[in-house]
Amino acid sequence: MKISVIGAGNVGASACYLLIAKEICSEVVLLDINRQVAQGKAIDMMQASITLGAKTSIKTTHDYKDIENSGIVVITAGIPRKEGMSREDLLHINIKIMEEVVLNIKKFAPNSIIIVVSNPLDIMNYTALKLSGFSKNRVIGMGGILDSARMAYAISKRVDTKEIKACVIGTHGEYMVPLLSQSFAGNQAVKDIFDKKTCEEVIQETKNGGAQIVKFLQTSAYYAPAACICILIEAILNDTKSPLPCSVWLDGEYNASGVSIGVLAMVGKNGVEKILDLPLNEEEAKRFQESVNSLGDSLAIVDKYLRNINH
Ligand code: APR
Repeated sequence: MKISVIGAGNVGASACYLLIAKEICSEVVLLDINRQVAQGKAIDMMQASITLGAKTSIKTTHDYKDIENSGIVVITAGIPRKEGMSREDLLHINIKIMEEVVLNIKKFAPNSIIIVVSNPLDIMNYTALKLSGFSKNRVIGMGGILDSARMAYAISKRVDTKEIKACVIGTHGEYMVPLLSQSFAGNQAVKDIFDKKTCEEVIQETKNGGAQIVKFLQTSAYYAPAACICILIEAILNDTKSPLPCSVWLDGEYNASGVSIGVLAMVGKNGVEKILDLPLNEEEAKRFQESVNSLGDSLAIVDKYLRNINH
């Protein structure tokens, strides 16, 4: 299968490199408005690939025609917040980028599954879904897998076993909901292993996992995001129907409607095959609802923008 990645920045390029090194697909197309950067990185990757004996080919472009027949398109294009820029300013810029990208995907890869990675993730996934008109199973936001990876790391530092399964739902941001009742080390739920203080530390480390990296690097993470993108792609290509925390459109599940937000979903060849209903306790359900509510202002901005372009 051919897979296209839009945005050859840190995350997009790292995802491409993993796709090639692991030979996950036959062909990768890497598209960026800055073609030189995409080209430079692709040449470097092909030299790595030939050394590793990997067979996946890579093409760089700034022409959307080249994404034709892609089975999956990953969107990592976007700009980070700059000094003096409000969240709303940033949102406007990234919605515009999303508009350009998604309308081209609709035109050139109308049967693809879209994986949104650009932030703010749940809002961008909502925007992509609305602009594409694709069925809700074919637009998936990659955020919860990354937050769960961060939670798994926080747990791993406190236990002996390497068999860790963590689950984070809610928004990919400060209102994320790490689920102690649905996260396990070996066979034991995390909530039964750690005392209250340690549970709270795990939650805080999970929430700060991204910011901590920004503090050291002055830019956001890319190795773990790239790995999480590959996990999602492999679930689709191999039709594994694996339960993965993803941002998906809700129609009443978890008492929420008309939003895209992180929940546990089975992912397979059709994208989101099924949304899994996790048994949340009272506190977790309350936190999830707060997470849904936190999206309200941004969704209103997107809706206003979409109304204007439809006129
Ligand atoms: N079309 C195509 N590419 C674009 C466009 C556009 N309209 N606008 C920006 N880009 C490209 C930039 O040229 C850049 O190469 O998107 C890339 C973004 O790369 P980085 O700035 O390195 O950002 P990165 O760290 O890769 O993160 C990308 O993923 O995890 C999220 O928060 C992160 O939203 C961000 C996204």
